[in-house]
Amino acid sequence: MTAKPKAKPPAKPAGELERRARAAQQHAYAPYSKFQVGAAVQMNGAVFAGANVENASYPLSVCAERNAIAAAVASGATSLEAVAVCTSASPPSSPCGACRQVLMEFAADPTAVRVVAFNPGGERRSWTLAELLPAAFSGRELG
Ligand code: THU
Repeated sequence: MTAKPKAKPPAKPAGELERRARAAQQHAYAPYSKFQVGAAVQMNGAVFAGANVENASYPLSVCAERNAIAAAVASGATSLEAVAVCTSASPPSSPCGACRQVLMEFAADPTAVRVVAFNPGGERRSWTLAELLPAAFSGRELG
C-alpha cells in the first residue's frame, strides 16, 4: 500500500509586506467593480499600505498601488524597495500600466524592486519592476 500523500497546507502570504497588502484588500472601497485590491510598498525600510478607492464618477477611482505610494510619500518615504499586491483573482492580477509608471517614479533601480502579486488562496506571481515596465519613461529623460 502506498502512503497517502499529505494534504498540501494552503500557502499563506509571507511576511509583513504581504500581510499588510492582504489587510488593506479587506478595506478596499470597490462597490462598483467589486474588484478589491490591497497593496503594500516598502519604502525607506518602512511598509505603507493602500486599497483601491472607487467613486460613483468611475474615472475618479484610484488604484491600491497608487494609494500606497501616496501614503509613503506623505510620511516622507520616497525610495521604493518592494511591492506586494493582493487581489482575489486567479491567477493573481498584476499592477495596471498607470500604477507601473507611478511605481517607476520612486525606483532608483527598477531591476532591484520586486513586485509580488498574490491572492488569499496562496497563488503567487512575481517580477521585477523593470520586467513589468521595460524601456520606461522616467524623470531621467527630462534631463
Ligand atoms: N485596480 C487597482 O487597484 N490596481 C490595479 O493595478 C488594477 C486595478 C482597481 C481599480 C478599480 O477600483 C478596480 O481595481 C477594477 O479595475
